[in-house]
Amino acid sequence: MPLPKFLVSAAKIVSPETRNTIARLFLTDGRRHWKGYALSFVFMGIMAGTTSGLAYLMGTVINRIFVEQNSTMIWLLSGAVFLLSVVKGFSAYGQAVTLAHVGNRIVADNQKRVLERLLQQDVAFFARSHTAELSLRFNQGAQAARNVLNLIITSLGRDLLSVIGLTAVMILQDPVMAAIGLVVMPVAVAGVRSLIRKVRKIFDREFHGAVQIMADSIEAFQGIRTVKSFNMEDELRARMSQRIDSLERASNRMTQAQSQSGPLMEALAGCAIALVIMYAGWSVLHGGRTPGEFFSVITALLLSYEPAKRLARLNIDLAGQLLGARLLFDVLDMKPTELDPPGTPELKVARGRIDFEDVVFGYRENEPVLRGLSFVAEAGQTTALVGPSGGGKTTVMNLIERFYDPSSGRIAIDGQEIERVTRRSVRDSVAYVSQDVFLFSGTIRENIAFGRPGASLEEIEQAARNAHAHDFIMSFSDGYDSKVGEHGTQLSGGQRQRIAIARAFLKNAPILLLDEATAALDSESEAEVQKALRTLQIDRTTLVIAHRLQTVVNADRICVVDSGRVVEFGRHDELLARRGRYFNFHQLQFADQRERLLA
Ligand SMILES: Nc1ncnc2c1ncn2[C@@H]1O[C@H](COP(=O)(O)OP(=O)(O)OP(=O)(O)O)[C@@H](O)[C@H]1O
Ligand SMILES: [Mg+2]
Repeated sequence: MPLPKFLVSAAKIVSPETRNTIARLFLTDGRRHWKGYALSFVFMGIMAGTTSGLAYLMGTVINRIFVEQNSTMIWLLSGAVFLLSVVKGFSAYGQAVTLAHVGNRIVADNQKRVLERLLQQDVAFFARSHTAELSLRFNQGAQAARNVLNLIITSLGRDLLSVIGLTAVMILQDPVMAAIGLVVMPVAVAGVRSLIRKVRKIFDREFHGAVQIMADSIEAFQGIRTVKSFNMEDELRARMSQRIDSLERASNRMTQAQSQSGPLMEALAGCAIALVIMYAGWSVLHGGRTPGEFFSVITALLLSYEPAKRLARLNIDLAGQLLGARLLFDVLDMKPTELDPPGTPELKVARGRIDFEDVVFGYRENEPVLRGLSFVAEAGQTTALVGPSGGGKTTVMNLIERFYDPSSGRIAIDGQEIERVTRRSVRDSVAYVSQDVFLFSGTIRENIAFGRPGASLEEIEQAARNAHAHDFIMSFSDGYDSKVGEHGTQLSGGQRQRIAIARAFLKNAPILLLDEATAALDSESEAEVQKALRTLQIDRTTLVIAHRLQTVVNADRICVVDSGRVVEFGRHDELLARRGRYFNFHQLQFADQRERLLA
């Protein structure tokens, strides 16, 4: 026998993709919390039962009290109604609380899982993805998982059970009236179907719009100095308002689409009630029936109206949330790009010699940055990298930190290829002061302590003294507990840099990478920091990048890096005597300085 048409269309509105997403949610988060869900299901069952009980009692009330005029029934029935309502109230409370607890736990768990996944991604991933998108996935995705489960559980538990219970009451009271009341159902299901695709499309647009707006605003506020100094406010305002308006329109369309089922449902419910009134009125007035059944059926019909409406909307409400859940799954399914295979040995640093052999690397395919770069940074000595901007100096440090791996060639520390040891052990042996110092919002103390978690206050202070940062820190009224502001905006560039150097002192690693560590300092504090760095460099393998050649004259070896290769190396005076690239470079800077002095 073929299925009734409305059942076929009911099955069709659940697409395979939707089914997969739902199944996955139930098998993961649902299964993990099945006890909580089972408990709330029981509460919802009690709610549905008491609601149906109340509807049934209405018939008895009318017939016993009003038709038969039985006065003891007044007490009995009002007591029963009161009792049922109290039970219903408590189970509603129990259901809401259990569901909220489970839901909040799911959000928290998923956020932790997303965080874990993201932390396993490499630097290249973060260079590709915008912070705004990641944080929306982090929040909306995790919440969507809860919303889908809660929506389905409450629909099945509270709404479906209520509708079933109330339908049973109707059938029990009068099967014909029940049939009249239910005849409108197929129309409702068919009506909702066409809305789903529309809702999905709009939701998609809404999400991308929200990401754009968040991305724009984050950038605008972080770059507020640039915006203001170029008088870019108007342009920013115009661009943002356009995006905000289009998101507003998308949200309006979403609500419109989602609410389109409303008028249809109201009309259908009104139709059902009108039909029941006609039939019941006729059969009570002319067919000799008691009004009790009629009241009971009408009550059941009215009570089932809200849950039935929610059930009809379920698929529409789910559509949006399911897209959110897929945002979550996208992240959870990402392969970790920064995971050492099990059994990877640790790097054992004895002296800290760094070897680059013919290293080839590019951030993007077919755009090589390092093209067969080779050099040695001898243990315990200072090696300087100099050369034109964009030549690949910072890239060398990125590779030593294993932010990226070379496409060919070999990088070794004390003879151990760093690709064959754990990233953790490599990073443990390296202290890196980068070109753009990053401070976390918090106190100065916390920012220095990053160098070695668990360091004592004295150690932090000693590190700050070594970095010549102690004096300026103590000049703040809160000293080491002074806040640095988001990204350290409340400090000067030189102060930020010295905090980063203090961090490196505290870390006390055998290898030191300094990328223009003194770039942001005036000559006086540069001299101070140079002194500090010289202390730091003792007995450490140091790789230093500097644009001002004057800071590298004392290096044990200088490598000139140009277009991804080391084109010259040697000591300062050797290189000058050779009258090659370094010599030219030096002459240029020298001329520059003289010009500045003469100006
Ligand atoms: N994350 C990245 N993605 C793509 N390309 C990059 C990335 N970082 C750097 N590059 C490119 O790699 C090349 C080398 O950059 P690198 O930062 O190593 O130069 P550098 O020698 O440190 O220059 P500078 O002296 O200006 O700091 C540049 O052409 C740059 O455009
Ligand atoms: Mg650089």
